Order: sequence, then C-alpha cells, then structure tokens
Amino acid sequence: MIIIGLAAAPVVSASPADDAMSQLNAIMADDAKRQASYEAGHERIRFCGYCHGEDGNSKREYIPNLAAQHPLYLFNQFEKFRDGTREDYVMSKLAKTLSLEERINIAVYYSQQTAKPRTGSDPTKADAGAKLFAVRCAGCHGDKAQGFRDMPRLAGQPAEYLGIALKRFKEMDPTKHSTPMIGVAGVLSEVQIEALTSYLTRQ
Ligand code: HEC
Ligand code: HEC
Repeated sequence: MIIIGLAAAPVVSASPADDAMSQLNAIMADDAKRQASYEAGHERIRFCGYCHGEDGNSKREYIPNLAAQHPLYLFNQFEKFRDGTREDYVMSKLAKTLSLEERINIAVYYSQQTAKPRTGSDPTKADAGAKLFAVRCAGCHGDKAQGFRDMPRLAGQPAEYLGIALKRFKEMDPTKHSTPMIGVAGVLSEVQIEALTSYLTRQ
C-alpha cells in the first residue's frame, strides 16, 4: 500500500489544490475508501486505456505509462494540462472534461497498477545509462527509478517517451516553468539521453 505523507494542513485558507491533496491523502490511508475510489476510477478510464493501457502500461512508444506512478504525481500532471503549464493536443482537452472527483479516482486507480519492464533496448547503452543514472538522477528519482511522491517513476517507461520528455525539459523556457529538470536535462548530450532511456525502459 502506498501512503502519501503530506505536510500538516495549513491552518488558514487552504487552496483548492491543498483540498484535493488532503482528499487524496485521506483516500490512500483508508482501505475501504481506496477500494471505492479505485472502482470509480476504473469506470472512468476506458478512453484513457486506448492510449495508456487499461493496466497503465502504454500501448505506444510515445505515450507514457501511468502504472505504479504515485497518485500525487498523476494528479499534479492533470492540473498542469488543465492550467496550460503542460500542453498536449489530446491531454489538454481531456483534463478539462474531468471533475475533481474523477481526477482523484483515476490517479488512485492507475497508481495501483504494476508497471512492466520493456525489452529491446541496447544492453551496452543501458549499462552506460545505469552508471549515469546512479550519479545524476537516483538522488531524486530513487535507486531503482521507482519515484517518490512528486518525483515520477521512470522505470519501465517507453524509451521514446523518456527521450521526448527529456528534450521537452531541455527546450523549456526557465522563466515560464519551474522544475529542476530544466537544469538537469539542459546538460545532457544526445548520447547520454540514449544511454539513460535504454537503461530506464528495462527496469
Ligand atoms: C490519444 C491518446 C491519449 C488518450 C486517449 C489519453 N492520453 Fe494521457 N497522454 C497521452 C500522451 C501522448 C501523453 C504525453 C504528453 C506529453 O508528451 O506531454 C499523455 C500524458 C498523460 C499524463 C502525464 C504522465 C506523465 O508521465 O507525466 C497523464 C497523467 C495522463 N496522460 C492521463 C490520462 C488520462 C487519465 C486519460 C483518460 C481520461 C488519458 N491520459 C487519455 C495520450 C493520451
Ligand atoms: C533535483 C531532483 C531531480 C533530479 C536530480 C532529476 N530529476 Fe527528473 N524529475 C524531477 C521532477 C521533480 C520531475 C517532475 C517534473 C515536473 O512535474 O515538471 C522530473 C521529471 C522527469 C521526467 C519526466 C517523467 C514523466 O513521466 O513525464 C524524466 C524523463 C526525468 N525526470 C528524467 C530524469 C533523468 C534521466 C535524470 C538524471 C539525468 C533526472 N530526471 C534527474 C526531479 C529530478
């Protein structure tokens, strides 16, 4: 079971985002609530499943897995598509059609799925990627790239999506976005990106 350890709720004027976080927190900490939320989420993901897979393992190399991703991360990424911080033709439209309750339930549903490692990447490149990952990335994304709270899981993601995501960070305007990934990805070469994605997709 995953429990989200959140900081103590602010005493005054909780924002809608804080409200959503405490709702998510309460659901994840209670077996019966989590089960109900999981089932409600399952009802709502038929359409998502065409792209991300019913079990959260994506069906296309350019589409991310959602399986085993932390619910807080999934929820926050929806908010980014909703408020325009993040843009994608399909996702930006979709995120606006879901109610708060649906966004929470879907995040709970996908967080409980198991991500499957992918084969097919070059083992020599993957070895080089493992070394680079341990030095530059593991501190935030976890030793096994399993993620933690707002640090996304990278293990098992399709290599192509990982490459797209890293290039997106490289090209981001730091005056408009605040994420440590802009600095991290900015210094990666093409060869290093290929090594890292070859490693991560197999985990
Ligand atoms: C037509 C295909 C398609 C459908 C349908 C779709 N998605 Fe996506 N989704 C994508 C793509 C492509 C991305 C990556 C966009 C990018 O590169 O920023 C994405 C990204 C995401 C992300 C961010 C994941 C990450 O690792 O950062 C979440 C969360 C997500 N989708 C949830 C959903 C949910 C929930 C639904 C159903 C309501 C859904 N998607 C339906 C294609 C789709
Ligand atoms: C200082 C902490 C930190 C370090 C170090 C770090 N990351 Fe990240 N990474 C993040 C955070 C936080 C996010 C979520 C970004 C967001 O929401 O905009 C992220 C997002 C990502 C994503 C997008 C995942 C998705 O599902 O869309 C990829 C890919 C990624 N990181 C790869 C790496 C790699 C490879 C390294 C090492 C070269 C690395 N990161 C080092 C904090 C870090």
